[in-house]
Amino acid sequence: MTTDLTEAVVDSLKDTTDPRLRELLASLTRHLHAFVRETEPTMAEWERAIDFLTATGQTCTDTRQEFVLLSDVLGVSMLVETINADEHGTDSTVLGPFHMTESPVRELGADIDLVGGGEPCVVSGRVLSLDGTPLPGALLDVWQANAEGFYDVQQPEVQPAGNGRGLFTADAEGRFWFRTCVPSPYPIPTDGPVGDLLKATGRHPYRPAHIHFIASAAGHVPVTTHIFVAGSEHLDSDAVFAVKESLVQDFAETDDPSLAREFGVPNPFRHARFDLVLNPGRS
Ligand SMILES: [Fe+2]
Repeated sequence: MTTDLTEAVVDSLKDTTDPRLRELLASLTRHLHAFVRETEPTMAEWERAIDFLTATGQTCTDTRQEFVLLSDVLGVSMLVETINADEHGTDSTVLGPFHMTESPVRELGADIDLVGGGEPCVVSGRVLSLDGTPLPGALLDVWQANAEGFYDVQQPEVQPAGNGRGLFTADAEGRFWFRTCVPSPYPIPTDGPVGDLLKATGRHPYRPAHIHFIASAAGHVPVTTHIFVAGSEHLDSDAVFAVKESLVQDFAETDDPSLAREFGVPNPFRHARFDLVLNPGRS
């Protein structure tokens, strides 16, 4: 009988004109039904599940994306990202829930830390094609939490909009550089249903310190990624399972007065250098 029910639902989808939508819904139906047959939820548990999803939706606002967070803590975001990743260029990782606002356009060398108080650092590198050719004019969308571990959208009364964010254009040699503060590990928001889920499962909410990037260039596959601060706490237990070893970068203590002058930072300073490599394969 229960198998008949599953096939009846799948059969009801047969007039879906978009074949991909039909495939996704049929597979979703089969997997959901299999999950229910396996776990045999009580009515109360089913209602609790509906309440949880309802609360997840109701927690979303223009500046908070609880469903992305749910996808993140269940590892679904990382799985989708990995399936779609380009296997040759820079490793990708999750977008995360804080890419909510447009990053302000900034000049190369600008400081995205509008508030100060953190440990100053410089992030620099190049955007390259797979064969090492620089990609002049590549775009870099950058966002990070402040030194206390909060994004601007989480603290509209404390941080100016656009703090920790910048949209940079690589120079004629594909180079980019900007100033910021060394990011800190931070807990993902725990005051909503996803936080309840973490508490109920005895999981901590922390992410290791990182800076987000989306790099794009004409004729190349864009990459959504982070760089993680080497030595940061929680690198081995990221709440959203997003760490890849290739993305862990040294924010090296640098004592170089002339370089500090060039970047406009006090000497000594912390310096993360890395290149972003894009694949010309699919654009
Ligand atoms: Fe983040």
